[in-house]
Amino acid sequence: MASGAVQGQVVVVTGAGRGLGEAYARAFAAAGASVVVNDLDASNAERVAASIVAGGGTAVADGEAVGTQEAADRLVAHAKEAFGGIDVMVTNAGADRRGSVFDLTTADWMFTLQTHLFGTMHSALAAARAMREQGRGGSIITVVSDAFHMGLEGLCPYGTAKGGIYGFMRGLAVELGPLGISVNAVSPPMTQTPPVNEFLESRVAAGAPEGELEFFRATIQQPDEVALITVALASERGRALNGQVFTMTRDSLAVLRPNATKTVGAENGAWTVDALAEAATSLAG
Ligand SMILES: NC(=O)c1ccc[n+]([C@@H]2O[C@H](COP(=O)([O-])OP(=O)(O)OC[C@H]3O[C@@H](n4cnc5c(N)ncnc54)[C@H](O)[C@@H]3O)[C@@H](O)[C@H]2O)c1
Repeated sequence: MASGAVQGQVVVVTGAGRGLGEAYARAFAAAGASVVVNDLDASNAERVAASIVAGGGTAVADGEAVGTQEAADRLVAHAKEAFGGIDVMVTNAGADRRGSVFDLTTADWMFTLQTHLFGTMHSALAAARAMREQGRGGSIITVVSDAFHMGLEGLCPYGTAKGGIYGFMRGLAVELGPLGISVNAVSPPMTQTPPVNEFLESRVAAGAPEGELEFFRATIQQPDEVALITVALASERGRALNGQVFTMTRDSLAVLRPNATKTVGAENGAWTVDALAEAATSLAG
């Protein structure tokens, strides 16, 4: 394969057996990286790794289910054993339980937090420990979603987990930046992967208005159209960025600023309950 932006780097992508993770793994391999293709669906991980290798790239499959420190440590050890170290960790893996908060069980909440939040946290921390030991910097790329700041129906546990990942990413960036390890997030737009197909089918079955379905059809992206941002963040220039969230579409790039604030002052320098309620209403509007 031709040399590229991340030539010779060792990249781990979790949940890379299909969907966006598969696209990230393929994009990294095409840019010259050696890729550990992780997925708890080991046969899908094998399929993706084999096809990268068949195309002239470098990859191995890994079947760990991320979510615990032990699994994350084994995953990073696998990268070291296969390729001698780790330069990039993309914490993409996730699965969630959806529904009304009045129907979801504690087990549903735990499942979602375990895969998304703890899967991200442990994978990133295991990579950070290895990168600190190696002393050559690195890049950690987490994955969030509009769901964490928009609030989407039926996705409360998912939004909670993604909000946790956002806070984790920001805190980790502060600690790892001085070590030359950048920590950022990508927030994919609605992209055509198996869970999104299921969601769209459910909207059709629920008789969603044609306008809504048309909006989805017009805006939905394909995984390979939005994958390159992960490679850009791991490239030499991209590594100068820290603590940022980017959304890439096939023809646009946005940075998310959830910490943007609007402020109003208290009249006469003091608040009353009524004045506060009025100020809060005008700020929220
Ligand atoms: N598709 C979208 O529109 C969209 C939008 C925003 C964010 N995202 C995020 O992008 C990521 C990938 O989403 P996708 O749509 O490609 O989903 P997907 O279900 O197609 O892929 C997720 C992969 O992760 C694997 N996985 C699940 N739990 C795992 C675990 N504990 N350990 C290892 N592998 C595990 C699954 O087997 C699957 O192959 C997720 O974090 C998702 O929240 C997706």
